Amino acid sequence: MPDLSKPAVTVLGLGDMGSALVRALLAAGYPTTVWNRTPAKAKPLVDEGATHATTVADAVTASRLLIVCLLDHNTVADVLDTVRDALSGRVVVNLTNSTQGQARELAGRYDVDYLDGGIMAVPPMIATPAAFVFYSGSRSAYDTNKAVLETFGESIYVGTDPGFAALHDIALLSGMYGMFAGGLHALALINSAGISTTEFAPLLKRYVTSMAGYVDGLAEQIDKQDYAINVTSNIAMQSAGYINLTLSAQEQAISAELLEPLGPLMARRVADGHGHEDIGGVIELLKKGNKK
Ligand SMILES: NC(=O)c1ccc[n+]([C@@H]2O[C@H](COP(=O)([O-])OP(=O)(O)OC[C@H]3O[C@@H](n4cnc5c(N)ncnc54)[C@H](OP(=O)(O)O)[C@@H]3O)[C@@H](O)[C@H]2O)c1
Repeated sequence: MPDLSKPAVTVLGLGDMGSALVRALLAAGYPTTVWNRTPAKAKPLVDEGATHATTVADAVTASRLLIVCLLDHNTVADVLDTVRDALSGRVVVNLTNSTQGQARELAGRYDVDYLDGGIMAVPPMIATPAAFVFYSGSRSAYDTNKAVLETFGESIYVGTDPGFAALHDIALLSGMYGMFAGGLHALALINSAGISTTEFAPLLKRYVTSMAGYVDGLAEQIDKQDYAINVTSNIAMQSAGYINLTLSAQEQAISAELLEPLGPLMARRVADGHGHEDIGGVIELLKKGNKK
């Protein structure tokens, strides 16, 4: 049963993530109204206590606080544009994956108190200690609704710029996909030799977890723009060894395309006279954009 002393919340979007958010709100007792393009997805949530709005307008007018969790930026704009007037004066918390530019565009598009969010969890992690969510934009919207937002997981406010939550989100996703790319390549190598990837997986996790600690040193070097601090694995050595990643893939007849882009960047740093420094200096090449 909803706790009517708690503020009403509306959730737009009942995909895997939107449904998990609704379940967290219901478990915490928030009166929750839901809308989804495909109405059938509301049925199990209504059985668990949610109220189903069949139109976006009804969903928006049911609550001052609107949580939006749709596929992408264009979907959010298309859905919210249909209720532009009804949105006026409400709080919109957009948890849809977006870029920083898209988030800033939405923040200025409607007459709302706008908070953007980046969910750092998969649906089964929502409302567990493993989940955290970045927020940025309206500080008052964040402060006023913090208790509601913390039903999803730890909330981390990263600034008044509505684009900063998306920037943090995409940065962490970049780290994750880089790890997935390397992990997939590693598993492909092992699999190509007929070795059990299941038996290999714990070794991969162990090594990647211990090497994750390396980012603290890289971050210090980047902030100080000094890539010669505490170097234990110079980039000339790393660049020479990296060539073997491609050669090893060729020997196993697998594609090295997931890992190949880093090799030329390391080689350029070495050629530019930075061989004694750490790999963090590669960021100086990234900062040039696509200019050589
Ligand atoms: N799942 C995750 O692991 C995860 C993790 C972090 C962040 N996120 C983010 O959360 C957001 C939602 O993800 P999800 O996992 O819930 O995705 P999903 O299961 O694919 O659900 C997509 C949602 O968007 C709606 N939608 C798609 N196109 C639409 C359109 N043209 N008009 C109206 N509604 C439309 C879908 O409605 P229908 O049901 O009618 O198709 C559904 O509600 C995404 O931005 C995603 O990046 C997801």
